[in-house]
Amino acid sequence: MSTLLEIENDAIRLPPPPRTPRTLRVALAGCGTVGGELVRLLHHGAAEIRARHGVRVRLVRVLVAHRGRPRPAELDPALLTTDLDAFLAEDADVVVEAIGGVDPALRIARTALGRGRRLVTANKALIAAHGPELALLARRHRGRLDFESAVAGGIPVIRALRDSLGLTGIARVRGILNGTTNFILTRLDEGWRYADALADAQARGFAEANPARDLSGEDATDKLRILAWLAFGIRPDALVLRRRGIDPDPERLAADARLLGGAARLVAESVETESGVVAAVEPVIVPLAGPLGRTRGEENVVLIESRSNGGITLSGPGAGGGPTASSLLADLVRGAGRLARPAAEPPVPVNDTREHRWALSVVRTIHAAGVLDRTLARAGVPTSTVLADGDRRVAVTEPVGWQRIDLALRVLGAELLAPVVSRVEVSV
Ligand code: HSE
Repeated sequence: MSTLLEIENDAIRLPPPPRTPRTLRVALAGCGTVGGELVRLLHHGAAEIRARHGVRVRLVRVLVAHRGRPRPAELDPALLTTDLDAFLAEDADVVVEAIGGVDPALRIARTALGRGRRLVTANKALIAAHGPELALLARRHRGRLDFESAVAGGIPVIRALRDSLGLTGIARVRGILNGTTNFILTRLDEGWRYADALADAQARGFAEANPARDLSGEDATDKLRILAWLAFGIRPDALVLRRRGIDPDPERLAADARLLGGAARLVAESVETESGVVAAVEPVIVPLAGPLGRTRGEENVVLIESRSNGGITLSGPGAGGGPTASSLLADLVRGAGRLARPAAEPPVPVNDTREHRWALSVVRTIHAAGVLDRTLARAGVPTSTVLADGDRRVAVTEPVGWQRIDLALRVLGAELLAPVVSRVEVSV
């Protein structure tokens, strides 16, 4: 139910809904976790959408890969098709793409926008690889491109960057952009086993079809590329980025963080430095009580530092059918502002040479302790603390750049000590 205050605000922001609702013909590609939830939201919210936005949303076709899968009871089965060409030929005002991956999503996007239609997509891989091209196509053909649901699920971060903060000069975007890995890391802290935590994240519809994209940081990387595009005007595919995931040993990563008194989080950040914009997606040991450490389960958080506006924190559910579909619905009924044209001279993306403290842990072999110490010394990496816990030995370094850690890791890896490394942001 709307409160009186909301009704008043809407009256200020929106023109009064027309007496006869406008019909919006929607073709939906994909009817899995996210697409299926959108079908339900459209069905159950139809009266409210009509009353508040003056729009009657009519699904005209739903593209699926397989007819036999279970579908929402609210979906008319006659709308289903597996024929991509028939789907593309459908006369729709808006095409909603919720299938993920670049193929055939790119073809659907190019066709829709090339015909001057609106495209609403939840597809981070598509926008990270082809966002600027699709935005240009939309502009040329007077279509629209909206992708709120592609980043951070139900958090309206695209809207925040695109419509307001992105126009004010951003200094840094930092956050947790993958719900699955955050869910796994917080479950591990509660004593779960990794395999069970991953299976639960998959069962709840948080993980990608191929969960390796979550675990390796690829999913968060796509999202960071999109945020850096909106924040700094850098083409998403041109961002120079260091990527490491929570694999290969999430249990040890979480245990290392506990030993150092913090929490392990997969942190994505892009920062403007004097030499250019640097970016990384990697595990960081953060304070438990800070905004990242407090982000639990499938939640995401995005901290945006604007040069003139200080820091803004947005947090909320980052994965799952409901939150993602609700962002799709918001794009569908209202859209966001126009994408700013790319900056004439966007800042240069460069390698991240900033210095950080790092935790390196190795597991027991007879020589583990000595090899860790010697290798770090040989790589010119001073250590401040070395902790031992059961089979494990964890060294915390003084601030050094990634290049030196990378060198040390190659030697340690070659010695079969299976090193796990994370950035350290807690005092040890
Ligand atoms: N697999 C993604 C995640 C889904 O876990 O964040 C939302 O983009």
